[in-house]
Amino acid sequence: MPLPYFGGKGKVELGGWLFKHFDLNGITNYCEPFSGMFGIYLGNFSDFSEVKKVIYNDIDKQNCNVFNCCKVPILFIDEIHKSLQPGGIFYTKRGTSYQEKYDHYKSIYLDYHNGIKVLPKINLLVNDYQSAVIYSFLRLTSSNQMHFLTCGFKNFTLEESWYKRYKVFQPLMNKLSDPDFCNKLARINPITAFDFEIVMNKYSNSKSFIYLDPPYYDRELLYDPDKTGVFTVEDHQRLANAVKQSKARIAISYYYFDEIFNLYPPKSKGGNFTYLKKKVRNNAAGKSAEEVLILNY
Ligand SMILES: C[S@@+](CC[C@H](N)C(=O)[O-])C[C@H]1O[C@@H](n2cnc3c(N)ncnc32)[C@H](O)[C@@H]1O
Repeated sequence: MPLPYFGGKGKVELGGWLFKHFDLNGITNYCEPFSGMFGIYLGNFSDFSEVKKVIYNDIDKQNCNVFNCCKVPILFIDEIHKSLQPGGIFYTKRGTSYQEKYDHYKSIYLDYHNGIKVLPKINLLVNDYQSAVIYSFLRLTSSNQMHFLTCGFKNFTLEESWYKRYKVFQPLMNKLSDPDFCNKLARINPITAFDFEIVMNKYSNSKSFIYLDPPYYDRELLYDPDKTGVFTVEDHQRLANAVKQSKARIAISYYYFDEIFNLYPPKSKGGNFTYLKKKVRNNAAGKSAEEVLILNY
């Protein structure tokens, strides 16, 4: 994944387990209506080489812009360098102490967190490298990998960690310089910011595999920091209806919640859905939880 992301599926333990159950046999289109950082597709445990078309969609245009910019790594890396040079937002003079650097970075983070500064609106027809750099910074330095509007700046106390913070962009730069990552990214087309239902309708056919990783039940605001209602509790039902109407092969992942069997009736109870389960270490509340994978095949 280019950036840390709460609920991202880029780790082999979870992402690898989910991918293992994807039946891509005879599939032409791979589509994720809730792509986020596209953890499964970009993970080094997955192989989508047989699929012809890879479709990214996420309602958050900042995520889409980062993916568009990652597809032109030279320009993205160049913009990161510029931001660290004199005149750039993340520039600190030679000899600046770790504490001063830390304070400088924290104050930039808090300006966005508190709404003193806001990221520009994204027009997906034009890559906005400056926004992508700042959004990346905010994702890389937020605590708990959550959205900068909903959580604070990562707390570092050790001098060595402050040093690493100065190299805050290093993990992203490493990805942008990795040929495997860049080759996988180059295959993503289109990158869109529609509501999930539009994308599901478009790829409702037997040649498409749709992986759905919606916001967790009862934790919808984690992905809706502006509270614009991009995904509400009722939308879990709207999603289940879209799944039932779709002609595509579909996999849905969720943390277990009581309503789940009503939304997706299991085969064992006369319904159409196969259930697989895996214990995972943490959920949004910090407790151990059960990841559920639901398949319509
Ligand atoms: C659990 S995250 C997906 C994480 C992703 N699988 C990954 O590996 O990074 C859910 C995503 O759904 C997006 N989202 C929320 N409401 C949406 C909607 N109505 N249509 C499309 N995407 C939506 C959020 O912006 C968020 O990125």
